Amino acid sequence: METIIYLFLVHYFTIRALAETNEITEKNETKLFDENADIEKPPKLNIKYYYESHCPYCRNFETDHFKQIIEKLHDYLDIQTYPYGNVNRLHLPNNTFEYACQHGPEECYGNKLHACALDVIKNHTAALLFNNCLMDISQENKGSDDKAADKCASNMGYDSNVIKECALGEKGSELFNYYGEETSKHKIRGVPKIWINGSKYERSHDVMGDICKYFLNPIPPCENYDSTKNDEENDK
Ligand SMILES: *[C@@H]1O[C@H](CO)[C@@H](O)[C@H](O)[C@H]1NC(C)=O
Ligand SMILES: *[C@@H]1O[C@H](CO)[C@@H](O)[C@H](O)[C@H]1NC(C)=O
Ligand SMILES: *[C@@H]1O[C@H](CO)[C@@H](O)[C@H](O)[C@H]1NC(C)=O
Ligand SMILES: *[C@@H]1O[C@H](CO)[C@@H](O)[C@H](O)[C@H]1NC(C)=O
Repeated sequence: METIIYLFLVHYFTIRALAETNEITEKNETKLFDENADIEKPPKLNIKYYYESHCPYCRNFETDHFKQIIEKLHDYLDIQTYPYGNVNRLHLPNNTFEYACQHGPEECYGNKLHACALDVIKNHTAALLFNNCLMDISQENKGSDDKAADKCASNMGYDSNVIKECALGEKGSELFNYYGEETSKHKIRGVPKIWINGSKYERSHDVMGDICKYFLNPIPPCENYDSTKNDEENDK
């Protein structure tokens, strides 16, 4: 068991390292076109978001706030998401575990789809947007199921089969356990729960505005942002 966790962690950090290499390349490319390239970018603000796939409050948060935060602020944030939430872990007499997700087995499967997307889709921002799409309140039933995965993948030009196979298999369970460990480290009970740069954040009606306030030197996407206006007006 320890070997499996160890191998998984090695795998996980290799992927993280690869993702970071990509990011560096991306930055160098944009530099060529950026007149302000010599101005230091502010350090990224760390966002940790804990959720479970079928929780209605999480779905509302994703639809009303998280989508625009990912879309507009991803260059300035280091966003880590933990699809797990409230799970009852039972230690069985034969030394295996049984997991009961708050909203039933479908939610455990949904959480695995999310975990697998984060693993399979190498562009982290795109993976976040894929998971955000799974959660969108426009998705039928409770979202985060095979149907939503097919729909979101085809819109974004991905193959949902890779993600679904992962969720059904050993890899999905490994990732699920990893997010479980991370979630219990912070003793997260209620979801959605957000931590910003290491501190618990109390959600307001204007999460994007609150995140903007962390940047003492305003970043461009925050400069014209006005919480009293809707998305369309803000985009002008
Ligand atoms: C990107 O920039 C870094 C730091 O300026 C440099 O060390 C690296 O070689 C560059 N990579 C590419 C692919 O240009
Ligand atoms: C352990 O026990 C559970 C419940 O009785 C059973 O479903 C499962 O197959 C068992 N697992 C192993 C590896 O024996
Ligand atoms: C990663 O995905 C985001 C969102 O789809 C996109 O804007 C960005 O250009 C992608 N980055 C790379 C290196 O493909
Ligand atoms: C967030 O934390 C990082 C690393 O500790 C730090 O460099 C940065 O200034 C912090 N950002 C804000 C806005 O507090």
